Amino acid sequence: MQKLVVKGKKKLSGVIKISGSKNATLPILAATILNKNKIEINGVPIVRDVITMVQLLKNIGSNIKFDLKKRKIFIHNKNRKLKTIAPYKLLKTMRAGVIVLGPLLSKFKKAKVSLPGGCAIGSRPVDIHLYVLKKLGAKIEIKNGYIHAQAKKGLVGKKIRLPSISVGATENAIIAASFAKGTTLLSNCASEPEVRDLTNFLKKMGIKIKWSTNRKIKILGNQNLKSTTHKVMFDRIEAGTFIIAGALIGKKLKISGIETQILKKEISVLKRMGVKFQISKNDITILGSKNIKPVSIKTEPYPGFPTDLQAQIMVLMTKANGISKIKENIFEKRFMHVPELNRMGAKIKILGDSSFVYGPKQLNGAEVMATDLRASVSLVLAGLSAEKTTIINRVYHLDRGYEKLENKLRKCNANIFRRN
Ligand code: UD1
Repeated sequence: MQKLVVKGKKKLSGVIKISGSKNATLPILAATILNKNKIEINGVPIVRDVITMVQLLKNIGSNIKFDLKKRKIFIHNKNRKLKTIAPYKLLKTMRAGVIVLGPLLSKFKKAKVSLPGGCAIGSRPVDIHLYVLKKLGAKIEIKNGYIHAQAKKGLVGKKIRLPSISVGATENAIIAASFAKGTTLLSNCASEPEVRDLTNFLKKMGIKIKWSTNRKIKILGNQNLKSTTHKVMFDRIEAGTFIIAGALIGKKLKISGIETQILKKEISVLKRMGVKFQISKNDITILGSKNIKPVSIKTEPYPGFPTDLQAQIMVLMTKANGISKIKENIFEKRFMHVPELNRMGAKIKILGDSSFVYGPKQLNGAEVMATDLRASVSLVLAGLSAEKTTIINRVYHLDRGYEKLENKLRKCNANIFRRN
């Protein structure tokens, strides 16, 4: 099994170019099921989850090609007959696979999609996904680990309030409603930038979608879709991760290929911690930070602080002069990285849904175990700022969502290598 070996305390400097967003690419790929005309998607990140989604689409019969050199995906499903089954083997490692349920059901009036596999960060049910699809007219049964859904007369637009905010369920609902008959009004939607990227893509295919304030979306279903080209937005979690790396151990580290406007919350938290930046529209240079201050934050749906950056900011909090607090509001088991950080010399206590980080602490290298995607990268950040050598096991978690992480860091002076 592959591991990452990090020799810490090397100052990072130079430029890191951010890749396309994994979390935007996945629902956009699922939405291509609706359209049989030519589609080209640009700026696709080469990460495991995207490759799994490409395999899933191939498995259901889509004519999809991923040009890895150009980071482009081409899809043309004219005269193709797609299957309506998404098997367990492709959903067990990637929960986002369940987003094919909405488009398959909407387009083919039936779908059989495996319930996604378990997950280290919490139980992650799909009840909200099923709730919205039922409201659009689907009959749904769970049998032998599969969701069996059908809508004999097709889905029909409706006014639906999501019972709580979910990114995936909002995406499933939007895609399903895009091909349904009539108009759908969704409220209490997730408004993450990746959901907006999905709606931008759907609009280019010919669907009328209007966002209004207060998390509401109006969708006019359309079954006559056109050919389109789309460039995926930047990965704001990758960007946030490298910005935190810069705050931890950077000396003029520039993060490029981003929209700083989208990272407002993250930047404001880091400013409160005393991190110094030069900010422009499409890049940010972290100048360093001598005296890190403690802060209290909570994770929330966008535009709040993202749960996907919680583990990374916690590493920076170990450097702060005082006690920082993180309240995790999205996932119930998302402090799996805490025991590993404590093994590296941090002092972090968990109390219910909150963690208290006692700083400042100098971290020391250790052999540690990655438990999920974002926890793994927090251990890399910890290793970069620690004394001596850190070995991170189970890096396959990291490869699900970070493209060439160690190469990007090495170019900026980090001493990090992959070993078998
Ligand atoms: C997406 C992101 C993930 C991020 C998360 C929260 C993708 C591919 N993944 O995951 O990186 O951490 O948003 O920003 O975009 N829930 C239910 N029932 C449901 C659905 C969700 O109870 O049917 C709960 C979840 O357990 C969780 C909360 O709602 O507690 C939010 O989850 P959700 O927004 O759905 O996350 P994902 O779409 O899975």
